[in-house]
Amino acid sequence: MAPWPVAVQGCGRKPGRAEAVKSLSPMPAVSFQSVSKTYSTPRGPFHALSGVGLDIEEGEFFGLLGPNGAGKTTLISILAGLARASSGRVLVQGSDVQQDYAQARRKLGVVPQELVFDPFFNVREALRFQSGYFGVKGNDDWIDELLHSLGLTDKAQANMRQLSGGMKRRVLVAQALVHKPPIIVLDEPTAGVDVELRQTLWHFIAKLNKQGHTVLLTTHYLEEAEALCGRIAMLKNGRVVALDRTSELLKAASGNVLVFKTDSALPGALAAQARVTGRVVQLAANDAQDIERHLATLREAGVEVQDIEIRRADLEDVFLNVMAAAAASEETAGASPQPWGYA
Ligand SMILES: Nc1ncnc2c1ncn2[C@@H]1O[C@H](COP(=O)(O)OP(=O)(O)O)[C@@H](O)[C@H]1O
Ligand SMILES: [Mg+2]
Repeated sequence: MAPWPVAVQGCGRKPGRAEAVKSLSPMPAVSFQSVSKTYSTPRGPFHALSGVGLDIEEGEFFGLLGPNGAGKTTLISILAGLARASSGRVLVQGSDVQQDYAQARRKLGVVPQELVFDPFFNVREALRFQSGYFGVKGNDDWIDELLHSLGLTDKAQANMRQLSGGMKRRVLVAQALVHKPPIIVLDEPTAGVDVELRQTLWHFIAKLNKQGHTVLLTTHYLEEAEALCGRIAMLKNGRVVALDRTSELLKAASGNVLVFKTDSALPGALAAQARVTGRVVQLAANDAQDIERHLATLREAGVEVQDIEIRRADLEDVFLNVMAAAAASEETAGASPQPWGYA
């Protein structure tokens, strides 16, 4: 299930060092306090975030999940000082991202979702320039370590323009870390990148987390989040709809899922609860009786099935349940949807 064994060991729970850091600093690493963001658009105001409140503790590996457009990048942009909240505030180790911008920003290493780079620099120059931005000099040893850890050593002299998308992504990660920030923020760092980079990246980020760095990660890969994150917030339409430890969120899912392929239409009773992707049908099943009942219903309806499998429910099942429940709650509440969550 989890293809990154090192990362799993490092991050499924809070590591000892992080506990030590936490006990020394009572304030959260990041505190989002009733953060709202309204964009003006030609069609009128658009509420990208509505009263997001959550604390990320020192040393956590925290996952921020949500469908496209949920507001994840907007929240990270506000944290990084790239966008202003319409109301509410964000504190980084107690520093307000607006009032104490420089202090807050120095504590953060942000890997943006978009590939932004200066085409005139080579890799080492880009990292030195970024160091200078934070007033850090003479850090070539650390730059060398970053290049090595991210598999970039032989690209140090390569111009940014010559790098593939995956390599540029690695440089963005290195850039975010040149000033050794205590808090690392990654916005979809593995979107569209190859397996090798994912493994390199998670190995490295897990190591930093073990050393006490706080990590805030957004990703579409729920397997990644399940393997890496100790705690997860799910965002939908700019609201937190679930917030809990990953292990608790997983407990809320049905125990098992019956998976099979078919070319036939499902009988009504099953169609209502099935998740269908092309020929693949998935049905939640808590126990053996549920599985037998589903199979009997299919048999009675004359539905031919192939490749039957039973798997444990995972974070994707939880995610889809949370999103479906949030959508139902939004419908019931009309224009003012209520947050829905486990916690
Ligand atoms: N500058 C902007 N102006 C207007 N709408 C925006 C702007 N930036 C983002 N949005 C909208 O805000 C919503 C949240 O976007 P975003 O934070 O990028 O979501 P996510 O990262 O979760 O996919 C989306 O509907 C997006 O279209
Ligand atoms: Mg985004």
